[in-house]
Amino acid sequence: MSDAATAYQGPQRIYSGMQPSGDLHLGNYLGALINWVKLQEEWECVFCAVDLHAITVPQDPKKLASQTREITAAWLAAGVDPDKSIVYAQSSVPAHSELAWILNCTARMGWVERMTQFKDKAGKDSERASVGLFTYPVLQAADILAFKGTHVPVGEDQKQHLELSRDIADRFNRDFDAENFFPQPEPLIQGPGARVMSLKDGTKKMSKSDPSELSRINFIDDADVIAKKIKKAKSDADALPSEVEGLEGRPEARNLVGIYGALAEKTNAEVLAEFGGEGFGKFKPALAELAVEKLSPITQKMRSYMDDPAQIDAVLKKGAEKANAISEPIIKEVREIVGFWNT
Ligand code: TRP
Repeated sequence: MSDAATAYQGPQRIYSGMQPSGDLHLGNYLGALINWVKLQEEWECVFCAVDLHAITVPQDPKKLASQTREITAAWLAAGVDPDKSIVYAQSSVPAHSELAWILNCTARMGWVERMTQFKDKAGKDSERASVGLFTYPVLQAADILAFKGTHVPVGEDQKQHLELSRDIADRFNRDFDAENFFPQPEPLIQGPGARVMSLKDGTKKMSKSDPSELSRINFIDDADVIAKKIKKAKSDADALPSEVEGLEGRPEARNLVGIYGALAEKTNAEVLAEFGGEGFGKFKPALAELAVEKLSPITQKMRSYMDDPAQIDAVLKKGAEKANAISEPIIKEVREIVGFWNT
C-alpha cells in the first residue's frame, strides 16, 4: 500500500459496479460475481447497478429499468446477499451526479484523454460520442469516492480507470488542503476467472458485444444451449498437456481449462493433472456437464427473481436508503470543503 492510502483513517470499504446492459455472461460470473460473493463475507461491500454510466451510449428508455432489475436478479441468484451488502441503482442516489460534476472540475483534460476505453468505445467517429462517454471514468471515480471506497474489485480492463480515480482523489485532497479526505482506492484484481475469453477466439475477451452468440455463455442459456456452445467452442487437434507450460501458445485450450478450473475451484495445474493426455472429445463433455451443473441453479434462481419484480424493487429501494445514508454526509462535507454557500 502507498503512504497516502495507509494514512487514510476511515473504514475499509469495498465498492464495485456493473452496467445494467442485459445479457450477463459467464465472464461476468467467473470474473466478478463469484468474487463479490466471497468478499461480502469479510468486508463491508457496496455494489451498484450503474445506470448513469449506461446512458453514456444510447439506451431504450422502455428497457433500462428492467435491465437494472435483471442485473440485480443475477447478483442475487449468484449469491450476493442484500442483508450483508448494499445493492442499489446508481440513479437512485444523487451523490453520484453531484460529486461527478465537482470531480469533473478536479480531473484534468490530459488525464481523461489518455483513457484507452474511451478511444475503443467511441471508435473512429469520436466527434459524435457523447460528452458523458468521455467523462465516464470521472463518474466512476465519483461512484467510489462518494462512498470513500478503499478497495475496488475489477477486471484488468478497469485498471486504468482506477488509476485515474486515485489521481483524482489525491488531486482533490491537495487542491482543497483536505489531507486524507478521500482515500486512494486500491484495485483488487479478480481471481482465477478474471479473464474469460471468447469461445470462438481465445485471444479475445468474452463479451456481450461479440456478434457471435456462440462466443459466450449467457446467464439465461438453458442446459442444451450451454452444452452446444461448449461442443462448438474453438479448440485444437492436440491432446491436453499434463503441465501448465504446455498451454503456452494454445489460447483456446488455456481458456477452456481456465473456465473448468474457475467453475470447479481448481487451479489449471489440478485440472491438467486430471485431464492431461485427453483430447477435447473427452474434455468438452466434462466441461459442459460441469458448466450446466454450476450455472443452471443460478439461471433458475434468476428467472424466479425476474418473475417477482416487486421483490427486486424492494431490495433496490432498501439499498438506495442505505447508500444515501452513507453518501449524503460525505457529499455534505465535500460541499463544505469546496466552499459552496449554505453548507
Ligand atoms: N466501468 C466499470 C465496468 O465497465 C463499471 C463501474 C462503474 C465500476 N462504476 C464503478 C466498477 C465503480 C468499479 C467501481 O466494469
